Amino acid sequence: MNKMTVKDIDVTGKRVLVRVDFNVPLDAATGAITDDSRIRASLPTIKYLIERRARIILMSHLGRPEGKPSKEFSLAPLAERLSQILEKTVVFTPDCIGPNVEKSVASMKAGDVLLLENLRFHAGEEKGDETFARALARLGEVYVNDAFGTAHRAHASTAIITKYLPSVAGLLLEKEIITLGNLLKAPEHPFVSIFGGAKVSDKVGVLKNIMNKVDCLLIGGGMAATFLRAMSLEVGTSVVESNSLGVAGELIKQAKESSVRLVLPVDVLVTKLINRTAVGKVVPVDAIPGDQQIVDIGPGTLDIFRKELEKARTVFWNGPMGVHEIPQFARGTEILARMLGGLKAKTIVGGGSTAEVIETMGLAGKITFVSTGGGASLEFLGGKQLPGVVSLLDKK
Ligand code: 3PG
Ligand code: MG
Repeated sequence: MNKMTVKDIDVTGKRVLVRVDFNVPLDAATGAITDDSRIRASLPTIKYLIERRARIILMSHLGRPEGKPSKEFSLAPLAERLSQILEKTVVFTPDCIGPNVEKSVASMKAGDVLLLENLRFHAGEEKGDETFARALARLGEVYVNDAFGTAHRAHASTAIITKYLPSVAGLLLEKEIITLGNLLKAPEHPFVSIFGGAKVSDKVGVLKNIMNKVDCLLIGGGMAATFLRAMSLEVGTSVVESNSLGVAGELIKQAKESSVRLVLPVDVLVTKLINRTAVGKVVPVDAIPGDQQIVDIGPGTLDIFRKELEKARTVFWNGPMGVHEIPQFARGTEILARMLGGLKAKTIVGGGSTAEVIETMGLAGKITFVSTGGGASLEFLGGKQLPGVVSLLDKK
């Protein structure tokens, strides 16, 4: 990586302002943290700074509170969880800027850790407002961006604050960029990429950019319907993105021209309605009933996927294979997750809901690398520059 990291700068005893991505999934009913892997992923940087007796000021967003304070999106429970994990007091400030916050920061001792309240309680954060960025910058002497999951956003705390403080990458951000960067630069072949999830439009950039690097593309999830339709198959009531049909057709053509095996489902699970009591039926993709929609990939498809994966030396996966929130439509996603866990290949999983599946199934230890970035990893693999990375100091 051509950016300076926290290891390239003197942090000893300094007030270090660290942007982390503590945007963790919360239980809708209780508000409890359902997966704390984003917190755990930030520990190497936090511990590195504690060891160097820095004063560590952490900041993050949580959810999309739209510029206003709300109890639902408070970071207070995150301070508590981090404190348990670190076995150390984490001071929490009920705002992220202002004189009271500055007072709390001024009373910090070497090695102390403090977490600021949700950055997105201020409209200036998402607007990339300079006054807000300066108010944050006043808190620290050095800025560290470790929020890979938010690096694709040009917000005040990710891309604007870097104008006011010496700015370097954290150890998680560095690891993400190196690991995902190697997928594009030097993957071991055969390289198989699996894409799922609802929309083709979300994945066009990454599909186009990865096409000439992979040997095989496996497509599942809701987005498969658009590809199948582009092949002139009838997909019943499945959602087809009519403005992505052209690009799906182009991708199929591009794959043929570059000798990439683009594998679409050969059988799917279909149902009339998507709800907790619905029962699906497996049908071949050329026999999808007109009044039914695709909710998962079928066993025949999983067999083909397995054969491709067993040959692979590098695998990247992003996006569930079906409506995995409903247990009877989660089978394809879960079997695929277990398949990945059993491979000898280097396996990399893109963040968001795919990472959540891996974590909930307890498979993270069997995967080479689970990215903490959903949108960020897709944009990066799509060849885009991430604003939160670009704005950091270049390595000398
Ligand atoms: C994410 O989880 O996608 C990141 O934390 C960024 O959040 P956002 O999509 O609300 O900008
Ligand atoms: Mg997002």
